[in-house]
Amino acid sequence: MSDKSKIINIDSLSYGGWGVGRADSKVVFVAYAVPGDTLTIEIIDEHKNYDFAVINKIIKPSKERMEPVCEYFGICGGCDYLDISYDTEIYWKTEIFKKEFKKTFGSNSSTTDVDIKFNPAKENLNYRQKIGLKIHNKDIGFYKKYSHDVVNIEQCRLAKAGLNELLKKAGGILLSEKYYRPITKNISLLTFSEAGLKNIILRVKNNFKLPEQFIKDIFTGTKCDNIFMEYPDKKIIKYAAGSADKNNNKKFLTIKDKKFLYDLPSFIQINKEQNENIINAITGYIETITEGGEKKFSNALDLYCGFGNITLFLTSYADKITGVESNDFAIELGKKNAVLNNISNIKFVKSDVSKFLDKIEKDKKFDLIILDPPRSGIKGLTGNITDLNPLYIIYVSCDTMTFLRDLRQFAEAGYEIEKIHLFDMFPRTYHLEQIAFLRKNRRA
Ligand SMILES: C[S@@+](CC[C@H](N)C(=O)[O-])C[C@H]1O[C@@H](n2cnc3c(N)ncnc32)[C@H](O)[C@@H]1O
Repeated sequence: MSDKSKIINIDSLSYGGWGVGRADSKVVFVAYAVPGDTLTIEIIDEHKNYDFAVINKIIKPSKERMEPVCEYFGICGGCDYLDISYDTEIYWKTEIFKKEFKKTFGSNSSTTDVDIKFNPAKENLNYRQKIGLKIHNKDIGFYKKYSHDVVNIEQCRLAKAGLNELLKKAGGILLSEKYYRPITKNISLLTFSEAGLKNIILRVKNNFKLPEQFIKDIFTGTKCDNIFMEYPDKKIIKYAAGSADKNNNKKFLTIKDKKFLYDLPSFIQINKEQNENIINAITGYIETITEGGEKKFSNALDLYCGFGNITLFLTSYADKITGVESNDFAIELGKKNAVLNNISNIKFVKSDVSKFLDKIEKDKKFDLIILDPPRSGIKGLTGNITDLNPLYIIYVSCDTMTFLRDLRQFAEAGYEIEKIHLFDMFPRTYHLEQIAFLRKNRRA
């Protein structure tokens, strides 16, 4: 055994999907390790108080271990938990969140009694309605775990069948004799969605112009509805299939009882079932505050609103609603989606949220603020939000660490955490969607 090779027992899982144990009394985070495993490990990254490691050999496997359903598991970085049952995954995801929550708020604060509810997914495979795959030489797939090497995959077990079909067909064209090298070497990312329409985005390197014939071949070979080319300067060019305008009218994305137009360059929650559960949780909470919409909010604000996924469901609970979003595609879709659903009390504003909050008039008040930022959260903006003096804040997030960081600031500013819902939006990975329902503390 080299001096970097050690024997370890794994006790728990941590955020990021690592198995955790101690070797020579130092904490070690081990990739793809399961609580209950005894392993020999190789340290790959040393720090003062902890190390990262990979498994060399499983000496004694945990009773929780099971055969992964995917041949790429352990190589491809797309999944973290295909080697344990879904029940075990739910147990650990809840434990990890509660532990991080306690670390953030301490054990003596008024937050110890906060109701934290875990909402498992009905489907833990084939649930993704969008996937983004890297391309390098002839490999199309996700990055290898903790590396930037692309692992070639023929299918993804988390993706819906239609996306795997798109991968097979579009991948075949990209790797064909006609297009491999001259075209494929100029594309770095291939994204598919099947949410209403079948959409493909090709992220193009430099300013390479994809030939018309190639676009035609992708349309013919995949039967997709739209192709988008995304350039390094973020410029996006859209191509619609010949009959797409006619088809588009029939291929709405439905979310609960509403219909939406959706284009791939705008954000979409990847798990349709859990997205609808989240909307139900939000409207269910608002129902109780507004007595079923009898006592409407005057002014509601939906920050980072995307194409109106949550915004449109607020329509009957507020006199006026403002949705703020920086993506051009999303904001245009939001406006169209409001019209499509005969909604007239929503104003969509295209703006960076921090600029919007900076410019807002000092006396402007919102009684309900919903926010659903990207992974980075709202660092530096919690003060701007509490300055608007909302009675209620609903914070939706896909990153536990930034969520807890921001939540603590809201709590320090006098907001009481009424409850937290955890939604398993991303089964078989360590990721989690979380929502906090906050109310301005009556004593603050
Ligand atoms: C997690 S998504 C949520 C979208 C929407 N609420 C939904 O449920 O579909 C975050 C959204 O914030 C937008 N966004 C990211 N940074 C932003 C910023 N600085 N200002 C405004 N919008 C931003 C993204 O384009 C994306 O649509």
